[in-house]
Amino acid sequence: MNSLIDRENRHLNYLRISITDRCNLRCLYCAPDGRIPRLPHSQILSYEEILRLVNIGIGLGISKIRITGGEPLVRKGAIDLLRRLTAIPQLKDVSLTTNGVLLEANAQRIFDAGIRRINVSLDSLQRERYAHITGYDMFDRVWAGIQRAHEIGFAPIKINIVAMRGINDDEIIDFGKLSLTYPFHIRFIEYMPIGNSRTRSRDQILAPEIQDRIQALGELIPVENGQNDGPARRFRIAGAPGEIGFISALSHHFCDRCNRLRLTADGKLRACLLSDHYEPFRETLRNGGTDEQLINIFKTAVSKKSAKHQLCSDDSQPVRDQMQGIGG
Ligand code: GTP
Ligand code: 5AD
Ligand code: SF4
Repeated sequence: MNSLIDRENRHLNYLRISITDRCNLRCLYCAPDGRIPRLPHSQILSYEEILRLVNIGIGLGISKIRITGGEPLVRKGAIDLLRRLTAIPQLKDVSLTTNGVLLEANAQRIFDAGIRRINVSLDSLQRERYAHITGYDMFDRVWAGIQRAHEIGFAPIKINIVAMRGINDDEIIDFGKLSLTYPFHIRFIEYMPIGNSRTRSRDQILAPEIQDRIQALGELIPVENGQNDGPARRFRIAGAPGEIGFISALSHHFCDRCNRLRLTADGKLRACLLSDHYEPFRETLRNGGTDEQLINIFKTAVSKKSAKHQLCSDDSQPVRDQMQGIGG
């Protein structure tokens, strides 16, 4: 039974948890001035605190969890947390979003911890450009990590590309071609103005053009979305083992079928990625709060979830909070 139902009758059964705001990359669209401000350790929820909230969430109807960051694999004990989560029978799905830098070294342990679905950020297939976008010459490592994960048997592996005009938009076809060779889900993500990122301009919003351009590879055949699927509009080119998807939060917002809540690294519950409103858990958790009080915080956040996000209008304000603490 799900008791997390909002005013729009959306059933919120998916909790995305950022376990750290730290990251081993500095992506253009994420890190202001190439720096990522760090929260002090004391402000970050402990794994025990996270697990307590997960168990309370499960009692309210949460059945799907994604671990994100920052980069989740930089936090000590991340894989043990994954193992503890996959051992919870009520959770139908536990998945991981990573930048892939630490994937090759950890893929087998992540698989052994029971994870099958991973999403990897990869904004260029060109080594030098990857270094320009992320601040580090790590393309080879990330690609090796993706290959390793594929050999081990993760499926689906979703590749996230934030499409940016003049930065990586000439690689759209090369990315699309990957779906002809591998069973990967290649997803073009529309840039969202969040925090003080260094790519702020609305000109970055490319989604409608990408879809046109990718048709050069062949007709895009729609793939139906399952009930619990994410925001991507999914397609396949005839005969391809993989898929091509579009996540266009601005040009095709998907708020009406949103099923998500987000727990930030410092213990805030956000009902919408693109709204700065949140309900804080940390003080209650640390001051002997009862389960009842924590349940009420979940319910309050859900009751305030807006029908659609604040960036839908042209004169909208960017979201102030930084992506790396919210987790995308
Ligand atoms: P699964 O369906 O579990 O695979 O998740 P997903 O596709 O949401 O996973 P992922 O973490 O790879 O998210 C991809 C991107 O989609 C995120 O980084 C965001 O850019 C975008 N996104 C996901 N959920 C939302 C949302 O609720 N609102 C908005 N605006 N964007 C979202
Ligand atoms: N706009 C769109 N996507 C973003 N991501 C990070 N910041 C932004 C942004 N401003 C993506 C990352 C990662 C996912 C979790 O979020 O590329 O794949
Ligand atoms: Fe790190 Fe992700 Fe931000 Fe890139 S987008 S700097 S990988 S947290």
